[in-house]
Amino acid sequence: MIPVITIDGPSGAGKGTIAQNVARQLGWHILDSGSLYRLTALACIQQQVDFSSENVIEAIARELPVRFESESYGLAIFLDNQDVSDAIRDEEIGMVASKVAAMGGVREALLERQRAFVAEPGLIADGRDMGTTVFPQARLKIFMTASCEERAQRRYKQLKEKGISVSLAALVADLKARDEQDSNRPISPLKPAADAVMIDTSDMSIDQVTQHVLDLAKQRFS
Ligand code: C5P
Repeated sequence: MIPVITIDGPSGAGKGTIAQNVARQLGWHILDSGSLYRLTALACIQQQVDFSSENVIEAIARELPVRFESESYGLAIFLDNQDVSDAIRDEEIGMVASKVAAMGGVREALLERQRAFVAEPGLIADGRDMGTTVFPQARLKIFMTASCEERAQRRYKQLKEKGISVSLAALVADLKARDEQDSNRPISPLKPAADAVMIDTSDMSIDQVTQHVLDLAKQRFS
């Protein structure tokens, strides 16, 4: 069976960065599942969809004309041949993504698309339900957390480096609202799989977390 590592956890816990580092070190493929919900959200906004029309949103998720390309700086993401790698990272898109992600039809529409990312020599998948719903057979499941303040600080720093000014208090409020929405939805809520390894990254550096995950992978897959 092709090996899969899942990394789930709340927004801003560092899942994406760690998934990229570990994938690079192992030479494995990567699935940023949140990007699929973000792309669905962006496509809905571009098409001015009525957010109460769940079946229209589900159809958009099913038909998403998306392409991922591996670049030296990370993944480039295209929607209908338009590079939307930065556009989908907007906090507003995150909130809309969280809204469409609560729809059962949308999750169902994206399920097979996510599973199709499994390929030799292995896959690292990050999101909210990778270990519980999408890849329940994964041999290594990680649930990554960090305090809300720490996660907001990290996001604040990232945005500042990009020249985007936001208030820290607004970021804390946004993260809390999104986590609450993701944790309390009835379908595939954000929660650790029963067999997940918990990692609190609040006081760890990126290198330390990357090494910890690599050590766990070595134990599980060798
Ligand atoms: O991980 P990211 O912040 O990019 O995800 C955006 C939103 O997509 C999350 O807040 C969540 O609502 C949704 N999502 C999800 N299931 C996943 C990945 C993301 O519901 N596996």
